[in-house]
Amino acid sequence: MTTTANEITYRLEQKRRVQADFPGPKSVALTERRKAVVAAGVASSVPVYVADADGGIIHDVDGNSFIDLGSGIAVTSVGASDPAVVGAVKEAVEHFTHTCFMVTPYEGYVAVAEQLNKLTPGTHEKRTVLFNSGAEAVENAIKVARLATGRDAVVAFDHAYHGRTNLTMALTAKAMPYKTNFGPFAPEVYRMPMSYPFREENPQITGAEAAKRAITAIEKQIGGDQVAAIIIEPIQGEGGFIVPAEGFLPALSAWAKEKGIVFIADEVQSGFCRTGEWFAVDHEGIVPDIITMAKGIAGGMPLSAITGRADLLDAVHPGGLGGTYGGNPVACAAALASIGSMQEYDLSARAKHIEELSFGKLRELAAALPGGAEGSVIGDIRGRGAMLAIELVQAGSKEPNPELTKAVAAACLKEGVIILTCGTYGNVIRLLPPLVISDELLLDGLEVLATAIRANA
Ligand SMILES: Cc1ncc(COP(=O)(O)O)c(C=O)c1O
Repeated sequence: MTTTANEITYRLEQKRRVQADFPGPKSVALTERRKAVVAAGVASSVPVYVADADGGIIHDVDGNSFIDLGSGIAVTSVGASDPAVVGAVKEAVEHFTHTCFMVTPYEGYVAVAEQLNKLTPGTHEKRTVLFNSGAEAVENAIKVARLATGRDAVVAFDHAYHGRTNLTMALTAKAMPYKTNFGPFAPEVYRMPMSYPFREENPQITGAEAAKRAITAIEKQIGGDQVAAIIIEPIQGEGGFIVPAEGFLPALSAWAKEKGIVFIADEVQSGFCRTGEWFAVDHEGIVPDIITMAKGIAGGMPLSAITGRADLLDAVHPGGLGGTYGGNPVACAAALASIGSMQEYDLSARAKHIEELSFGKLRELAAALPGGAEGSVIGDIRGRGAMLAIELVQAGSKEPNPELTKAVAAACLKEGVIILTCGTYGNVIRLLPPLVISDELLLDGLEVLATAIRANA
């Protein structure tokens, strides 16, 4: 058992150890079984099957140990087997697995709503509804906004990702693999230009100017008084970990308020300490009308939520919101424990520490590559907290380099480090370690990443 400075203890040894010829026989056999029964449309990035996971380590069924720099896509912020979450889940299932909150309610749901109303930005009166997935939370935020405003139009942005259901596919920007041949899509969704500092034609454009560009387009193409909601990820996730220029989000949310448009922050990926604050909007003091949450909320148990202004959420008639499993009692118990662990270990501070360690290493690496800090294959290093990315390009240009990105992720995996990629152009390496990862393991993972980039650049 090892311990970090802030006393996180681990059940599994936090060490990377992979055999040269993985996937091993058990994973290979499972892949064969899978091919016969699981639809081909569900893809996995890593060809091994999991036996155990804890802290920053994932064990496979053949005895390999991988460093996890993906957290199951930003979910296991408190680790994949946080003792508090595991204990709360065990305790909950021993009493009841389900009754349906819409039939026979229970305290856990109410307690999660109390926590979310407290933790989300703003001191105004709030209400919360619980669901199962991020996409479901997004769908419901839009439902509420349309009902409360009596308007139809919804504004989303370039590079956005909001899910795989019909409405959320319409909100999502990238065609392949998310939308191609899955139409027709939900109507009344309009896409506007994002603030993407690295790829702006005019690199001097400020956040306020980029917001003005989007607002002008909304006014011209839709009309502000027709818009029910603006939905935006404060740091875009699947689109490439794009951090908009400072001032973009505040200007947009101020304009939305002026026009009676519901400003929805989609914090499904960026929420719950991931970026070094409870929510990514906290970095610029923005108070959204509705916030969507999932992923990190419940230590890996399926739960999502929307929290927002009481007048908006209470505008919906009884029975208009809900779902059979939404706010499942076991998931609620996990969420309460998970939030408790985030507070106990001050995981926002850990996320900031991860940012500091990682930026240091990545900037050092970029400076030492051919072309140096300004002209190497590392075009951009960005992100906040433990939601960090490097955008890979053809050296000395901004031309996306998805081939290098794939090669780097594959080289990392070969050495036992799980690294995810993303981006509209498929050229972004993203780092999403569990917030409880030890410094030693994180630094080992970063060194593997650096070596992979040096070798493939
Ligand atoms: C910002 C954002 N919104 C919504 C979703 C959809 O969440 P889910 O996959 O739980 O439906 C995701 C998932 O990656 C996301 O990153």
